[in-house]
Amino acid sequence: MEKIVSLCKRRGFIFQSSEIYGGLAAVWDYGPLGAQLKKNVKDAWWRSVVLDRDDVEGLDAGILMHPKVWEASGHISNFFDEWIDCKKCQERFRTDEPSYATKKQCPKCGGKELTEPRKFNLMLKTHLGPVEDTASVVYLRPETAQGIFVNFINVLDSRHKRLPFGIAQIGKAYRNEITPKNFTFRSREFEQMEMEFFVKPGEDEMWHKTWIEERFNWYIKLGINKDNLHIREHEKTELAHYAKACSDIEYNFPFGWSELEGIANRQDFDLKQHQQFSGKDLTYFDSQTNTHYIPFVIEPSGGCDRATLAFLVDAYHEDIVNDKTRVYLKFHKDIAPVKVAVLPLLKNRPEVVEIAKNIQKSLRKKFVCVYDDSAAIGKLYRRQDEIGTLFCVTVDVQSLEDKKVTVRERDTMQQERIDIEKLEEYLLEKLQ
Ligand code: GAP
Repeated sequence: MEKIVSLCKRRGFIFQSSEIYGGLAAVWDYGPLGAQLKKNVKDAWWRSVVLDRDDVEGLDAGILMHPKVWEASGHISNFFDEWIDCKKCQERFRTDEPSYATKKQCPKCGGKELTEPRKFNLMLKTHLGPVEDTASVVYLRPETAQGIFVNFINVLDSRHKRLPFGIAQIGKAYRNEITPKNFTFRSREFEQMEMEFFVKPGEDEMWHKTWIEERFNWYIKLGINKDNLHIREHEKTELAHYAKACSDIEYNFPFGWSELEGIANRQDFDLKQHQQFSGKDLTYFDSQTNTHYIPFVIEPSGGCDRATLAFLVDAYHEDIVNDKTRVYLKFHKDIAPVKVAVLPLLKNRPEVVEIAKNIQKSLRKKFVCVYDDSAAIGKLYRRQDEIGTLFCVTVDVQSLEDKKVTVRERDTMQQERIDIEKLEEYLLEKLQ
């Protein structure tokens, strides 16, 4: 993990929030490459869950919602973490830490002198308007899902949907985590990619299975090593208050197998609650059976930050080249933040620089393509490898004569001379 954290800072993927003031715990800023990487993760999810399907619609709801939403959803009464302090080493930990749950001891020092468990609601509060009284309290949403449930009828009516259909959204969520840890894995501000798939009651178990498979395969398709992924079904005692069943997709992070995404069968819990609390009819009219009912819902709920971290960890590779360690990020082509880098071999030859800049100008219309002439070629290659750039295009003196450039592929480091005229077509074929 240390290598990943250091590379993320060194190469501009992820920085500590407000670092010049000593940092703000458990909030992270994505730098130039991290922002593009995370955008690619979100775009790949949106493509697979929304754009490539006829049965899912997109949504972008507000972070702030009517406070009644959280009463109805059960977050005000159920969204608690329990924590304990060790009196010996002062470690603070959640009561679901395995060493406490099984042996009632501190996970750090093994001590048994512990405080009583304390409960803590994870929602962050703020006030709307100039007066800070109880009437003005609103919460920063702890999950994006509720924005979908409260818009169920709006989407159903405006888009003339028939069951089964889904509503998807990507957005920020906030939780006042007591024990944030493992880099971006458990943060206080993070992004979720969630989809609520509404189905006819009775068809829920079939759709639950379908979505577990669908979401598992998404990570594999985008290059995650299958050996580093597994599905873990929740024990009945672990289930959230709304769920009938839930399976997590877990990734083998350097700190152990941990949740990337949960796929839950939320039954009709949320719509029923919102119907009761709002007094509005949230039923679906089934014209085949001529009946009204509240649909069940299957929810694949993933974290953008956790997925981004898994893509980074999985992509990290080291090999030995000429007795030196080469670090490279073996990102899938859809995930890599930079697809092509154009590098002039001699920056003091204006004709070479001109060709290189013209190539970049034309390629950047098709994909993310950067230009760099700030170091010697060996160093430039090393930099591009470390950020996972798929192809480096080198322009040299010979290019002036033969109108060809050298294209180097990241993983194999194999080089090919390609006609400048055919370069775009060559790269498009590789990147599609
Ligand atoms: N709507 C269901 C829901 O929110 P969750 O398991 O609490 O379920 C879903 O969260 C996903 O959101 C997790 O699988 C994880 O990827 C991400 N997530 C949750 N808490 C997080 C945190 N503190 N930091 C980063 N990601 C988090």
